[in-house]
Amino acid sequence: MRSRHVVLARRPEGAPVADDFRVETRDLPALSEGRLLVEVLYASANPGSRNRLGGDASYARGMQLGETMEGPAVGRVAESRNPAFKPGDLLSGPFGWAEHVQISGRGTRRIPASTPSLSAWAGILTIPGLTGYFGLRDVGLAKAGETVLISSAAGPVGATAGQVAKLMGCRVVGIASGEERRSWLREEAGFDAVIERRGADTVEAMAERIGHVAPDGVDVYFDNVGGIILDAAIACMRPKGRIVVSGQIADYNADPSSRYGTRRVYEFIGKRLRMEGLIVFDYADRYDEATDAMTGWIAEGKLKFREHVIVGLDGLAELFCAQLRGEIFGRPLARLHA
Ligand SMILES: NC(=O)c1ccc[n+]([C@@H]2O[C@H](COP(=O)([O-])OP(=O)(O)OC[C@H]3O[C@@H](n4cnc5c(N)ncnc54)[C@H](OP(=O)(O)O)[C@@H]3O)[C@@H](O)[C@H]2O)c1
Repeated sequence: MRSRHVVLARRPEGAPVADDFRVETRDLPALSEGRLLVEVLYASANPGSRNRLGGDASYARGMQLGETMEGPAVGRVAESRNPAFKPGDLLSGPFGWAEHVQISGRGTRRIPASTPSLSAWAGILTIPGLTGYFGLRDVGLAKAGETVLISSAAGPVGATAGQVAKLMGCRVVGIASGEERRSWLREEAGFDAVIERRGADTVEAMAERIGHVAPDGVDVYFDNVGGIILDAAIACMRPKGRIVVSGQIADYNADPSSRYGTRRVYEFIGKRLRMEGLIVFDYADRYDEATDAMTGWIAEGKLKFREHVIVGLDGLAELFCAQLRGEIFGRPLARLHA
C-alpha cells in the first residue's frame, strides 16, 4: 500500500510559495493491531498553519522539515484492526495533507449519516466554524441587540461568527474585499452591513468606514486579522466592548520585530475595554454542542458557507499560499477520493 503526502520541504521566508512544499510517496506498513487505515476524502488548508512553518512553537507545536502538512480532514475507514471502527465508517480528524493515513482513531469524530454536508466536516464543522462559534459566544459574550464587527468576514471563521451573531439577535457588520464577497455576506449570510477592506489603508480611513455603518459604536469586535483594522476597531469600540483575538493574518508573514501589533492600548482605559485571545482546542469537550447546533442550522438553511474545492493533492500547497494572499473565497479543500 502506498500513499502520497504533501510535506514541508523548506522553511518559507515571508509569504510561503508552493516550492516550500513537496509531494512524497510513502510505503505504508501492514496495519498493526488497534489501528485503522483511512482513505482521505477531503483535506483542508488553515491559514494558522503558517505560524508553525518556521519550526518555533506558537500556540501549536512547530513543524519539522519533511513532516506531513496538518489540517482537518474527512476520511473513510478502508481497513480496521480496531473493533470500535469498521470499514466504511466516516470520520472527521486531523489527517493532514495525505491520501491515506494509519491512525489509532483517537481524536477523530464520527460523521453522522444524516449530515447535511460531508465536506463541512473538513471545514466549518471543524476548526474554523468552532472558532467562530465559541469565540463569538464564550469569549465575545455577544448579547442580543449588540453590534458585532468582524474582519475577514467572508472567511469560514468570520462568516460563521457573523451568522451565529445574527442568530443570537445581534446587528452584524463585516469587513471583506471585493463585491463578490460583500454581496454574499449581505444577501446569503444575512449581514446587516459590509465594509470594503481594500482602499482603507490607514487607521483613520478604516475607522471612518466603520463609523459610517456603526455610528453608535461596536460592542464586540471579532478580530481575524490584526494590523490597522484592529486599531480602527478599537477607535470605534463602545464602553465595556470586548475584542476577540481569533487570528492576526495581516502579520503572519511578517518578521516578529516588524509586526504591527496595536498602538491604541490607551483607549482600553477610558472605555474599559477587554481583549481576549482564544484557542479553539480549549473547547474540545464542547465540540458536539457546537456541531449539533451548526448542522441543525445548515439543514434549516440558517448557516451558509462557501468552499473552494480542488481535485487531488497536487494543488493543495498552492491553494494554501493563495489563501494567505487573500485570493481564496471559501474554505480551501482538496477532494482526494470520491
Ligand atoms: N484562535 C484559533 O483557535 C483559530 C482557529 C482557526 C483559525 N483562526 C484564525 O482565524 C482567522 C480566519 O481564518 P479562516 O480559516 O476563516 O481564513 P480566512 O479568513 O479566509 O483568511 C484569509 C482571508 O484573510 C484576509 N486577509 C488576508 N491578508 C490580510 C491582510 N494583510 N489584512 C487583512 N486581512 C487579510 C482576506 O480576506 P478579505 O480580503 O476578504 O479581508 C483573506 O481572504 C485566521 O487568522 C486564522 O489563523 C484562529
